[in-house]
Amino acid sequence: MSSPHVNEGFLSAGQQVFQPSAGEDPFLVVDELTVRFPTHDGLVQAVTDLSYSVERGKTLGIVGESGSGKSVSSMAVLGLHDPRSTRLSGSIRVGGREIVGADEDDLRRLRGKDVAMIFQDPLSALHPFYSIGDQIAEAYLLHNKVSKREAKARAVEMLDRVGIPQARNRVDDFPHQFSGGMRQRAMIAMALVNDPKLLIADEPTTALDVTVQAQILDLLQDLQREFNSAIIIITHDLGVIAEMADDVLVMYAGRAVETGPTKLLLTNPEMPYTWGLLSSVPDVTASTDARLIPIPGNPPSLLNPPSGCPFNPRCAHKDKVPGDLCTTTLPDLLPAQVGEDHRRRCHLPDPEVIYGTEVLPEIAPNLVEQHEQTREEETR
Ligand SMILES: Nc1ncnc2c1ncn2[C@@H]1O[C@H](COP(=O)(O)OP(=O)(O)O)[C@@H](O)[C@H]1O
Ligand code: SF4
Ligand SMILES: [Mg+2]
Repeated sequence: MSSPHVNEGFLSAGQQVFQPSAGEDPFLVVDELTVRFPTHDGLVQAVTDLSYSVERGKTLGIVGESGSGKSVSSMAVLGLHDPRSTRLSGSIRVGGREIVGADEDDLRRLRGKDVAMIFQDPLSALHPFYSIGDQIAEAYLLHNKVSKREAKARAVEMLDRVGIPQARNRVDDFPHQFSGGMRQRAMIAMALVNDPKLLIADEPTTALDVTVQAQILDLLQDLQREFNSAIIIITHDLGVIAEMADDVLVMYAGRAVETGPTKLLLTNPEMPYTWGLLSSVPDVTASTDARLIPIPGNPPSLLNPPSGCPFNPRCAHKDKVPGDLCTTTLPDLLPAQVGEDHRRRCHLPDPEVIYGTEVLPEIAPNLVEQHEQTREEETR
């Protein structure tokens, strides 16, 4: 078995190096995280009472429309919010250490070593005036006692691994000399240079063509196999979730609205917003007679979120809930009807039945049977 610090090609290595030990605490535990930004217009309620955890070797997919708090919550895990302009509460434990309130020195040690982030926009993470190779080498030097030459060699090795052709010749290029897809790879190389135990990939494949997209997702899976990393993948693409994630967290207006194991959540969702996401993405159902139905309306303002369930202004099912609960009372995130570890934030008394009899026949009639099967297996 090879040592995890001998970096012999996580691209080629297919074998599991680490076995997660049973009963180990999750590597990342986020507990009642709330993030607020005071602005001239009022308080932006970006993330509210968000709790989740990720074990090593597992992938959590965070999904939701633009503005739902996915990036803000993930940046908190790296301690990236400026305390002078952010009100942050709750707890974030990474490998047992508390991040909330940690000083900048501790956070710097953590960032890029134990935890790394791939940002949505590679240009925001790469400095335009330094060569790609110098930036990757710098990230390595920060956390390893090696010479500049060794760090540079490591940069070449990393660029090679993320599939930059002729890495040795390209290592001194500047970001503007790389194509969009290559910049994305370079940023991934930088994020992976210290074999992070937790990798947060924020929309890592947005704006890339399908082939490069697939290669990058493969790369993340290889990293996970070799280093037993925990991965959070943020995306609005449920196809990516279906392929990558063990568990899913659906966010709406800064809150978790449905969580659970991926397969279960995709076959037996119990929250109308998740139904909306599934209806607007045909690939997930892989059904030829699936219909594309966009979610009507827009995400709510986080300056003045609606009272009650935040989804109520857009929800087509609130008339099935008795009284005016949907507009007056925020539903708790409670155990769902079908499946273990499946939770949903919705007042509907029987979302399971509504999904199987009303929603699914409309969007993917050929999946009704599969839905019914899972329901029977899980409620047995
Ligand atoms: N520094 C900031 N100051 C004020 N509002 C912010 C700040 N950063 C993010 N927001 C707001 O917080 C909300 C959540 O943003 P974000 O987490 O980036 O959404 P997404 O789910 O698209 O990643 C958005 O309404 C965004 O405008
Ligand atoms: S609580 Fe009411 S408004 Fe919210 S998703 Fe459920 S049915 Fe719709
Ligand atoms: Mg974002």
